[in-house]
Amino acid sequence: MAKISDTAINGHFTGKDILSLDQFSPSDIQLLFKHVSDMAKIAKNAKASDLLKGNIVTLIFYEPSSRTFGSFSASVKQLGGQTVEIQNPQSFSSVSKGETLEDTMRVFEAYCDAIVIRHPVQGTAEKAAAACTAVPIINAGDGVGEHPTQALLDLYTIYEKHGRLDNLTGLAAGDILNGRTVHSLIKGLSLYEGNTLYLLSPEQLRLSKTDYDKFSKKGIKLIEISNENEIPKDCDFWYWTRVQKERFTDMQEYESVKNKFIITPKLLAEYGNENLIIMHPLPRVGEIETTIDDDDRAVYLKSQIRNGMYVRMALVALVLGRL
Ligand code: CP
Repeated sequence: MAKISDTAINGHFTGKDILSLDQFSPSDIQLLFKHVSDMAKIAKNAKASDLLKGNIVTLIFYEPSSRTFGSFSASVKQLGGQTVEIQNPQSFSSVSKGETLEDTMRVFEAYCDAIVIRHPVQGTAEKAAAACTAVPIINAGDGVGEHPTQALLDLYTIYEKHGRLDNLTGLAAGDILNGRTVHSLIKGLSLYEGNTLYLLSPEQLRLSKTDYDKFSKKGIKLIEISNENEIPKDCDFWYWTRVQKERFTDMQEYESVKNKFIITPKLLAEYGNENLIIMHPLPRVGEIETTIDDDDRAVYLKSQIRNGMYVRMALVALVLGRL
């Protein structure tokens, strides 16, 4: 399977780098979603699948991860493939001796059929894709940039609950400035008509003006708010996020903005509704009280997690040309 240098998916995932939600159209997302329930069946069935038999996928994570690393690893194995796994290459690979990103990518592309990369610097997945000529790159989060596979699983979770991705009203709360999962979700929701997203954050953690202008041109209505009493009561989903401590150089500033907005039973009773789902990309560090976890509307430790694996199973199989 040769790598394809075109970036737009255009109905063909095989050999494509997956770097940004900008590459997707609604029909590409629908094509991916069409396979997700089959992936769920495979994952729930103890019988091994051999869809990725003979495939090897490298997971190289320059930043910590639980869900993205774990679910990609499990996804490949659920489908009968194998993984080369490198966490913290800065300590446990020749990156520690000064090897460049480009050289590292060119080495690992010789060992596998696709590379999944997470990196703290925005734009690194694109750099990796430019260095790799033989195998596709999947962006597992690049600094404050994007996290496209998270957005795909988030969109699937919303779609599973509401049966549509248009004409939705949502609330994203927390660190909107640095939250790459929110950036990708905004791009994803922008592909559909009639979506409105309220953005609740401390003033310092609003979107940059550049991002606000860029995202607003995409057709989604973005409404920035800084007080809980501005939350509309008709939201279809809440998407809570943590304040991204690792993006701060001044810890005093971090302490002053962290956990300004917390989901409590009182907040949920006052501003929630029966049809709402409560999402979080996780990890959470206090911004949703644990008493909320058992509420049927809370999906962050339930379907949102499981969907992460199913969506990544479908995505990897499509990129490797096995679906
Ligand atoms: N949601 C998410 O990206 O989680 P991890 O950082 O644990 O992968």
